[in-house]
Amino acid sequence: MKQINWHYQRPELAEQYVKAVGLSPISRIALLGVRRIGKTAFLLKDLAPIAEKLEFLPVYLNMWDNKESPQEHIVLTLERYIAALKSKTSQSIRQLLSSEVKKLDINLGVIKASFDTSTSSLSSVTASEISQISEQIKEIVRLCDISDKRPLFIIDEVQHLNTSEAFLPIQSCLRTNFDTFDEICVIYAGSSRGGVAAMFNQKESELISNNKVIKREMPFYNSAILREFPTLDENSVEFFCSLLQEYFQLDYSVDALESAFKELEYSPFWFRVLLTEVTTNRTDIESAMEIVRARIRIDGGLDQLLRDLKPLDKLVYVRMYEAESKYSSEDLKFYSEHMGKEIKKSSVQSSVKRLKKKELLTEHEGGIFFEKAGLYKSLKSLMEGGKRT
Ligand SMILES: Nc1ncnc2c1ncn2[C@@H]1O[C@H](COP(=O)(O)OP(=O)(O)OP(=O)(O)O)[C@@H](O)[C@H]1O
Ligand SMILES: [Mg+2]
Repeated sequence: MKQINWHYQRPELAEQYVKAVGLSPISRIALLGVRRIGKTAFLLKDLAPIAEKLEFLPVYLNMWDNKESPQEHIVLTLERYIAALKSKTSQSIRQLLSSEVKKLDINLGVIKASFDTSTSSLSSVTASEISQISEQIKEIVRLCDISDKRPLFIIDEVQHLNTSEAFLPIQSCLRTNFDTFDEICVIYAGSSRGGVAAMFNQKESELISNNKVIKREMPFYNSAILREFPTLDENSVEFFCSLLQEYFQLDYSVDALESAFKELEYSPFWFRVLLTEVTTNRTDIESAMEIVRARIRIDGGLDQLLRDLKPLDKLVYVRMYEAESKYSSEDLKFYSEHMGKEIKKSSVQSSVKRLKKKELLTEHEGGIFFEKAGLYKSLKSLMEGGKRT
């Protein structure tokens, strides 16, 4: 049976990014997007093929492939690219990329996000690994030059390099090499918007070392332009709707699917879980959504979170989400009313700290990023005293 291609393509967006790094004076961009919004799928299925057509060599590196030792993953992957380049067949490069696509399709985006660098045993990055990476980048530049291509490094889950001080030499090494060879283009992507923004927009950032939070200079500071990764557009719902009609004779209204997509915060991952429900059980959308909501709660550990969060932390999260402010007299009145006692600014500050420590929100240059899909909705319905939806 022929497979259905459920991937909604965005070739114009891909071309726009490739041209942006290829032609504009700043040849590096960092895409910010929450988890499961389709970054990796876009980079591998839309952007890499277009980059190839435009005579780039796309080198895809995912920093989550080996979380304990991202440097080992970099060395291993660059080795494979060098071998492929030396073999002089575009086929072998394509094989490297298609093996990444396979990995994505098998995982369906279910790569574990939870990884605590403060407690796990990280192998420290050695000087010889750093010089090996530098040599490999130099070799890739040389081989690309011979075959009239431009190297385009696609570095996914880049925020992982900021989760431990142990990884800082990797950041410095990449930065130095990317600065040295101006023909290199880079697209970074990450799933913590605040985390990525902090790497590129802040001179200093907070890192965890020996279980303590410390401040360190950021090697990637000012080295890329930050772009918010756009969610799938409204035409995507029509695309999915037409597949449901063509292959399953299911006739759902585009409006109903659109509002489900909106509730799922435009995550194509969760939307596809919904589509799987309706195609297997042929239920109505609302019943399928009930199942998806339950899965989101389990997946994100939302039930546990709702139990663990202190009452004031919950209120502060909701307030920041709705009002984008937290310490005004109006805010303090809101907390005090809900808590039934006077709440001081210092207590709210402690709440914000706890929420950040749990990586539920990040703040950067006055902007607040909410990193946990579905948390606001769950908190809100809990506050309204209703059932959690
Ligand atoms: N354009 C698309 N069309 C259809 N489905 C998509 C699309 N993009 C992503 N998906 C689906 O969503 C899943 C998750 O996407 P992807 O892994 O690209 O998200 P991500 O933003 O990289 O997530 P993470 O932050 O967890 O790495 C994919 O496995 C795929 O099933
Ligand atoms: Mg990804």
